[in-house]
Amino acid sequence: MRAAELRSLTEQLLSHEVESGAYASSLARVFSSIDPALDFDEIFTPAGTAISSFDAGLCVQDAARTAKFTRGIHAAMRDLWQTRPKLRILYIGTGPYATLLMPLLVMGGTSALERVDLVEVNPSSARMLQTCLDLLELDQRRIHLYAADFMSWETPHRYDLIICEVMAAALVREPQMAVVKKARGLLSPGGVLIPERISLFWGLSNQNREPRWPSGMSRVPPARYQWTHLGDLSAAETPPTTVELEVKRAHCEGQELTLFTEVQVYGEEVLQDAESMIVNTVCVFSDFRAYPCRLRLHYVEGPRPGWTAEPIRSGEGNCLRGK
Ligand SMILES: C[S@@+](CC[C@H](N)C(=O)[O-])C[C@H]1O[C@@H](n2cnc3c(N)ncnc32)[C@H](O)[C@@H]1O
Repeated sequence: MRAAELRSLTEQLLSHEVESGAYASSLARVFSSIDPALDFDEIFTPAGTAISSFDAGLCVQDAARTAKFTRGIHAAMRDLWQTRPKLRILYIGTGPYATLLMPLLVMGGTSALERVDLVEVNPSSARMLQTCLDLLELDQRRIHLYAADFMSWETPHRYDLIICEVMAAALVREPQMAVVKKARGLLSPGGVLIPERISLFWGLSNQNREPRWPSGMSRVPPARYQWTHLGDLSAAETPPTTVELEVKRAHCEGQELTLFTEVQVYGEEVLQDAESMIVNTVCVFSDFRAYPCRLRLHYVEGPRPGWTAEPIRSGEGNCLRGK
């Protein structure tokens, strides 16, 4: 019954017969009817925080994200099938429902897949995912679920498609950067890593006037009037982790140094401007009164991934100028 509903819902999403909000609400209802016993325990790993099974379950309702990832993954699978009969898929950080892939597996079955490896570090999410696989009547002969930290997990396999959405806004807190760097080494030649590209920007803005998911302000134009591309995270690129930047003094008043991402899931499926939690802005520096406007921005990897911004004293460093 649940499998039939999920199949029909996924077909409607892919043929654009249902909008993303309605898709996400129906999906959340199907998943939570399986077993609502999620918990609130976060796991602190050496590469970042793994959110609780409750919070990972809530990600379903980040509607544009859920819809665009699902459509993007479907498009990538279709493209890959042009050149290879059976796909090997790795999904890192599945949460309790493997939200971004499960609907496609239920809709299409697993006969055109060689193997699907699911890796989830939070034991509560992994347990729940096993229940979902059982109840959604999936043929599990080719599906392997590992309750493990991807960063120390080992595999002899190479994958045609790797999915990782282990991220919060501006790549803080969760281990997306570290996970992508490791995952790219597990791609087979011509394989696809999803998201294809995470573009990072810095800008000046006023957090109070920024649109934010999910507050429903997505029709407000962003208040940021100055922004600069910092770099991209993809299968082939890593953004610079230390940059020096200069903000024109006239632009500083009442502004905050803000970071945000644009996420190209696959092809035309792109998330931007507060459409999702993962593209919300994050303020990293606001005390422009007390310091000169030359800053060193640095991305710190490790258990608490995130950004630091510190003033550069005069005579020190080479600055990237904002527009
Ligand atoms: C933002 S949630 C996304 C859940 C689901 N993929 C979705 O899109 O709805 C990220 C998930 O990655 C898991 N995770 C975080 N770090 C991990 C790691 N090092 N290895 C495996 N899973 C990890 C978390 O426990 C969490 O379930």
